[in-house]
Amino acid sequence: MARGALTVVGTGIRIGVQLTPESRAAVDAADELLYVNAEPLGDHWLASLHPRARSLASLYRPGVSREQVYEAIVEAILEPVRAGARICAAFYGHPGVFVRPSHEAVARARAEGHDARMLPAVSAEDCLFADLGVDPALDGCASYDATGFLARPRPVDTTAALVLWQVAAVLEPHAVAAGSHGGNLDVLAARLLELYSPQHEVVLYEASPFPAAPALVERLPLAALPEARPTPQATLYLPPAGTGAAA
Ligand SMILES: C[S@@+](CC[C@H](N)C(=O)[O-])C[C@H]1O[C@@H](n2cnc3c(N)ncnc32)[C@H](O)[C@@H]1O
Repeated sequence: MARGALTVVGTGIRIGVQLTPESRAAVDAADELLYVNAEPLGDHWLASLHPRARSLASLYRPGVSREQVYEAIVEAILEPVRAGARICAAFYGHPGVFVRPSHEAVARARAEGHDARMLPAVSAEDCLFADLGVDPALDGCASYDATGFLARPRPVDTTAALVLWQVAAVLEPHAVAAGSHGGNLDVLAARLLELYSPQHEVVLYEASPFPAAPALVERLPLAALPEARPTPQATLYLPPAGTGAAA
C-alpha cells in the first residue's frame, strides 16, 4: 500500500471567515479536499478553496443509520490516502468536537502507517460562549450529546452550565430529513424537569453561519421545551441553577 497523508481541519461555523491560516495552508498543500458541510450555502466557498474539492454530503441519507454514514465517510476519506494521496478532510466547526468519523479516520490512517493529524478550529460551543456571554470558568460547564445524556444517566451538577448538543435529533438513531427534527423533546424535557424547575430558562441557540447575521437565540422556560421546534443545528444551553440540587 502507498503511504499517503491525511490532515483533518475544521472550517468553523461562519462561512468563509473562520478557517485558520494553519488550516488554509493544509488545504493548499493537499492533492484533494474532501468536505462535510452543515450549511449548503457554504458549499460554494468550500468548493472554491481547492481545484479538486469534493463534498461527502451525499453519504448522509434519511433512514440510513448514523454508524453506516460514519463508516462511509471514514472509508471515503481513507480510500485516496491508501492510494498515496495527500488528503485534506474538512468538517464544519471544530473537526474533533462531536464528530466521530474525523477521529476514526485519523486513528485508522495512523494504524495503517499513513501520516495523519487533526488541526483545531472554532466550534459551535466557542460561538455560544461569545454570543451568549458565557464564561465556562465561572460556574463550570458540562457538555453532552443530548441522546447520550439520556442514554447514560449520571449525576448532573445543576450549579454548572449545561450544554446539550444535537438536541433536534435527540433519540433519533437515523439521519433525519430536513424539517423532521425535534420529535423527542418531551423525553428530554422530562429528564431535565427532574433536575431543574419548570421555570428554569433554557436557550435554543444557533450561531449564524453568515458573518453579518446575528445568532438565533430562543429563550424559553424549561416547561415549554416539548413544544419547541429547534432548527437542525440548534444547541440547547441551560444556565446554572444557582443553588442546584445534584441528582
Ligand atoms: C455533529 S455536531 C458537529 C459540531 C461541530 N463539529 C462543531 O465543532 O461545532 C452537530 C451539532 O453541533 C451543534 N451545532 C452545529 N452548528 C451549530 C450552530 N450553527 N449553532 C449552534 N450549534 C451548532 C448542534 O448541537 C448540532 O446538532
